[in-house]
Amino acid sequence: MRTRLTQKLCIEHPIISAPMGLAAGGRLAAAVTKAGGLGLIGGGYGDSEWLEREFAAAGDERIGCGFITWSLAQKPDLLDFVLAHEPAGVMLSFGALAPFAQRIKEAGVMLICQVQTLALAREAVAAGADIIVAQSAEAGGHAIERATFTGARDRRLSRGRSAGYVLVAAGGVADGHGLAAALMLGADGVLVGSRFWASTEALVQPELQAAAVAADGDSTIRTTVVDIVRGYDWPPPFTARVIKTRLTMDWHGREGELAQPAVQEREKARYWKAFHAGDVENTCVLAGEAVGLIRDVVPAGKIVRRMVEEAEALLARSADTLGSVSI
Ligand SMILES: Cc1cc2nc3c(=O)[nH]c(=O)nc-3n(C[C@H](O)[C@H](O)[C@H](O)COP(=O)(O)O)c2cc1C
Repeated sequence: MRTRLTQKLCIEHPIISAPMGLAAGGRLAAAVTKAGGLGLIGGGYGDSEWLEREFAAAGDERIGCGFITWSLAQKPDLLDFVLAHEPAGVMLSFGALAPFAQRIKEAGVMLICQVQTLALAREAVAAGADIIVAQSAEAGGHAIERATFTGARDRRLSRGRSAGYVLVAAGGVADGHGLAAALMLGADGVLVGSRFWASTEALVQPELQAAAVAADGDSTIRTTVVDIVRGYDWPPPFTARVIKTRLTMDWHGREGELAQPAVQEREKARYWKAFHAGDVENTCVLAGEAVGLIRDVVPAGKIVRRMVEEAEALLARSADTLGSVSI
């Protein structure tokens, strides 16, 4: 399956795994690359020891890394640290690109920008993005409001493709149907989070993965509860998509009360204790609407192969079907 993305990255399949903070470590990224995609490790809120360990865990596989950009701004040296590992690409998402984009380009590293609005897309073009990821609200974790169908297709994004960047769709892609649809919408590939979060290589408690497998597409919600409870200072308008656990739904709609220092301290302790224990209902579980499409926890390589085989079959079949439609 050759696309502008596979050519740009010199990979076999147009699939990038998302840099999910703490969950996407070196083993997951390496497994995706080994299967023919490109794996990104999740720089998250920036912990150099964690990053060092996870780059080591990837061995010799060619991988990249992603940052939560507003958080990187608080620890800017982490970018040099990552660039020293000669990543295949660095993805910036959720914050001002200017301080970092140039350093990434100067290092000769592929600049991947995940954007949620057209204004952010324009900023990414101006910053010289090699790959623009159009992320939508179905996505697990943080995002804004646009949907994949229109966001990835948006003319103003597509028109700029002649500027030299390639376009990747993110949000709700978990199988070959999603990959085929994204290509039909004009994207050059997909960036996939939730589906790889539910893989054997992801650094995720099995109980949390089991909850995602059991969930359906109606089981998630966009909220700020998960950030308030953890004490992370996410700027508006970002919200995070999580599974509707008890802790989430106890506080959704009562965010002001949760933000009271004494309440927040108490609930933060409850959150992390339950998170590490795999106690699903008393923590928050970042995952997208795609949970409704996830039926098993399998190795990442198998996810890549299934997705590609299914998309190829669907695209071949649709060519047959469309050929027989008379308009
Ligand atoms: C558990 C989880 C953690 C995430 N963490 C990050 C992150 O640290 N940085 C980032 O840029 N995106 C993060 N994302 C969002 C992904 O980059 C991507 O946009 C999203 O997963 C795509 O939608 P999908 O989950 O439907 O595949 C995360 C997503 C999930 C599911």
